[in-house]
Amino acid sequence: MAKKIKLEPIAQEASIDTNDNLLSMLLKHELNVKWKCGGRGRCSTCHVYIQEGLESLSPKSRREQQTLMLISSCQENSRLACQARVLGEGVVVELPIGMYLSEIDNLDALIGRRVQQPILHPIDGTVLVEEGMMITRSIVHQLQQAQQQIESFLAQT
Ligand code: FES
Repeated sequence: MAKKIKLEPIAQEASIDTNDNLLSMLLKHELNVKWKCGGRGRCSTCHVYIQEGLESLSPKSRREQQTLMLISSCQENSRLACQARVLGEGVVVELPIGMYLSEIDNLDALIGRRVQQPILHPIDGTVLVEEGMMITRSIVHQLQQAQQQIESFLAQT
């Protein structure tokens, strides 16, 4: 049976089959949710806040708990969308603000531009570049190094 979910801050309503994970529903709605680790509970790119209805989701696995501990913006109502299955009604999901580094194909193209939204680390969710900051060559260099570390972390896990 389908359950209704509310998505914030875009104020949309969506339906999801009981026992499906939140990530599948977010992807169906073409929301800006990445799944850099392929839905294995190893990154922060599907991190969401549950504004209401935490009790209507499946419990956190050990792996999810471990990954959430690494996420700097983690709160008590944090979940990984790929790991949270919907079991009941009343779930309200909020997406964190920002763009994950792994979404940017061409970092060089950002040089000399101000970022419109924070650039986030895809593993631990830290803000790598604050909103409004001008991107310089040295920032791009740092981001490229971070990208390499992320790729090798994901390849090892
Ligand atoms: S997609 Fe990586 S933890 Fe969910």
